[in-house]
Amino acid sequence: MLLKIPNVLSAEDVLQARFQLDKAEWVDGKVTAGHQSAKAKNNQQISQDHPVGRELGDKILRALEKSPLFIAAALPHKVFPPLFNRYEGGQSFGNHVDNAIRQIPHTPIQIRTDLSATLFLSEPHEYEGGELCIEDNYGVHSVKLPAGHMVLYPASSLHHVKPVTRGARVASFFWIQSMIRDDSVRTMLFDLDLSIQSLNRDVPQHQAVINLTGVYHNLLRRYAEV
Ligand code: NI
Repeated sequence: MLLKIPNVLSAEDVLQARFQLDKAEWVDGKVTAGHQSAKAKNNQQISQDHPVGRELGDKILRALEKSPLFIAAALPHKVFPPLFNRYEGGQSFGNHVDNAIRQIPHTPIQIRTDLSATLFLSEPHEYEGGELCIEDNYGVHSVKLPAGHMVLYPASSLHHVKPVTRGARVASFFWIQSMIRDDSVRTMLFDLDLSIQSLNRDVPQHQAVINLTGVYHNLLRRYAEV
């Protein structure tokens, strides 16, 4: 499933984030790349321990906790502390698949990356190129969203970022270990959840809604790993 989640951060939060990030120190993005993807990766990042990154990352995590759409779609178990990257002057990230397992820095906690997330922090008119292109069975999807919006996609997909030929593309990126490892099962649960919510709006308290809600939770109980 490829899902766009609008307005994770408000316009004000984005402005504040950009102000702080623009002043921060940026390093070569290869620091968090795996052996293979380091060859394809050409961008800049905020160091994982940078206080600005930590503060903004926490803000993003708090916003996601309050996003019913994110919770329903990702069914998150663990979320990697958000990182920040910037592409400018022709920088790009060639085709790759993200590492399967990530260790949260300075902790023994490992995350299986079921889902990848990119939260855009630059407006599309601020830069040329920089589309995030994600491959699935239906082709290649090109994603370039307004600042504050996020895209969620299976971390198992091949993806790349096109060269940024004008301006700068600033974004946050991170991974989610879902309670539901399998993307197709997670997608079915999400569709069921949305359908129940829709029915509940149209025919509140209908017995079938109560039954279907039970089915949803029993499926979650059947498949969830926590
Ligand atoms: Ni990637």
